[in-house]
Amino acid sequence: MKRKNIVRKLLEVDETQSTNDDLKKMIYGSTEPCFAVITAFRQTGGRGRLGRSFLSPDGGLYFSASYPLDKNTKNIPFLTLAAGLAAAEAIEKIPTSTKIDCELKWPNDIYLNGRKVCGILTELVGAAETLTAVVGIGINVRDISEECPHELRRKITSLNGEGIFPDREALLRSIVEELDNFVYLQGTLDSVSDGIVEEINRRSYLCGKTIEFSDNGRKIKGSAGEIKKDGALSVFTNEGEFHIKFGEVTTVTG
Ligand code: BTN
Repeated sequence: MKRKNIVRKLLEVDETQSTNDDLKKMIYGSTEPCFAVITAFRQTGGRGRLGRSFLSPDGGLYFSASYPLDKNTKNIPFLTLAAGLAAAEAIEKIPTSTKIDCELKWPNDIYLNGRKVCGILTELVGAAETLTAVVGIGINVRDISEECPHELRRKITSLNGEGIFPDREALLRSIVEELDNFVYLQGTLDSVSDGIVEEINRRSYLCGKTIEFSDNGRKIKGSAGEIKKDGALSVFTNEGEFHIKFGEVTTVTG
């Protein structure tokens, strides 16, 4: 997608099942490349990675943006990391009395003070000739611990819970602009700039932690290393270095 000054259709709704699903329907129904953002105040069926649900009560920032991609785009997993970086940088720019340091938990979460504050779900629509990525971002803006299942409470946080009170619209605009610039500048995403990879690694939550991942059904433990240019996470194990591209990673120690 080589286009600067992208003009996006913006749709705002109070409630929907999932903004990713709405945007996918819009793309299927469109004959032109679709540049849109759909945002909702609450979702009744918010979806996360690996078929999980994403709790989306009132007062969060839930939106999806579409990215028509060059048909030669290979490095699509990097889009999720780039979206994480765009959202982290936008959150860090919110005016507050204390400095905000967001961490990126490979491959799709943002952590604040050790807890998840944002999740990203990237999905693809179409065939080789018309490939469009739907990048869905969910940010816990207000404190949702009351609505949250007990076992999750100590794992998640919110911007308000960390003393951060954003203008939701400004935050949305800032994330989309940042990600639009990234996709415009990086083209097919195959040669992502070193600077962006460094920024992602500087914020890596897993780096140096002992983690467990699954390789063909086997659970393997190792020490998480760098995130590579192709979006893979390197892990040093007794069996050597692995580069993992998808799947679930759990933190054992850190
Ligand atoms: C995850 O935590 O695994 C990813 C969560 C992604 C949530 C966002 S909210 C906007 C968009 N609509 C959805 O149904 N999911 C994404």
